[in-house]
Amino acid sequence: SLPEQVKIVEVGPRDGLQNEKTVVPTEVKIELINMLSEAGLPVIEATSFVSPKWVPQMADQEEVMRGIQRRLGVRYPVLTPNLKGFQAALNAGAEEVAVFGAASELFSKKNINCSVEESLQRFEEVVRAAKAANVTVRGYVSCVLGCPYEGQVSPDKVAQVAKRLYSMGCYEVSLGDTIGVGTPGSMRAMLSAVSSQVPLGALAVHCHDTYGQALANILTALQMGVSVVDSSVSGLGGCPYAQGASGNVATEDVVNMLHGLGIHTVSLLAHTHTRTHTQSMYLYLCGDSPFISMGITL
Ligand code: HMG
Ligand code: MG
Repeated sequence: SLPEQVKIVEVGPRDGLQNEKTVVPTEVKIELINMLSEAGLPVIEATSFVSPKWVPQMADQEEVMRGIQRRLGVRYPVLTPNLKGFQAALNAGAEEVAVFGAASELFSKKNINCSVEESLQRFEEVVRAAKAANVTVRGYVSCVLGCPYEGQVSPDKVAQVAKRLYSMGCYEVSLGDTIGVGTPGSMRAMLSAVSSQVPLGALAVHCHDTYGQALANILTALQMGVSVVDSSVSGLGGCPYAQGASGNVATEDVVNMLHGLGIHTVSLLAHTHTRTHTQSMYLYLCGDSPFISMGITL
């Protein structure tokens, strides 16, 4: 059976832009986020409070947070790998943050420079500080269907990390197929393992589309009871610490599939005018980067 309603978490301004080679001007990021909220998306991951030495593209995180027009009812979570990032996010007015761990040791080391266990301890500190500040916390697990450094990842390891994040207080755990190597078969096996440890209602899927499997993987997850889907406008995306990771699944494609299945979304992106406007506007603003042209479906 399928869920009646699906929540879309738009990650384009963060996951989409973090990998862009040319630095996207802050005003363009702000305008993109404002347009995405006008399009009706309920959650827009706006930026990340990570080290500018590691991810220069996100160095303007504070200006972005201060510059956007917050639309009533829309949430604007930001990534925070540690307490330092959390404090900076709080100072910039964030009301929701996301911690991001992995089911692979080598990926954890390359991405956030610590072991999985160390990362979970850091996240506990973030969750504690967040609770005290009335900030909600989402959790990510990366490499749930494969790792660029370790290859196969066991569903049990994914389930363990997801359970830790949920138990420490993450209200939602997003399962990331970071390099897009999953298939409906591996998605099913992984979700069976994870859903034995974390309630399905607290799970999200975050698919990259490297091998064209993202929509099929999402449909599999929906059939298993997941009702939160991460996606990125125009299929922007990648991860600087996952060579070869292509874009996230495109938001407009997910919305199109959901509406075709009779599933409600809070998003208005399926409306052709809004969709064309958002995409062409974005193209106009950002020029002809390969990452941008890749996901265009018009
Ligand atoms: P580190 O070098 O181990 O950190 O980096 P450190 O604690 O040793 O500190 C070193 C320097 O960084 C110090 O500055 C700190 O102040 C500073 P210095 O004294 O050298 O001038 N620092 C910070 N600066 C800004 N913000 C912070 C922060 N923390 C320390 N929060 C760190 C550790 C986690 C900071 C680093 O590895 C990092 O920033 N990594 C970023 C990784 C990243 O953003 N990856 C992409 C997002 S994850 C993703 O895309 C996957 C996802 O989409 C799901 C999926 O697809 O699977 C979520
Ligand atoms: Mg991602």
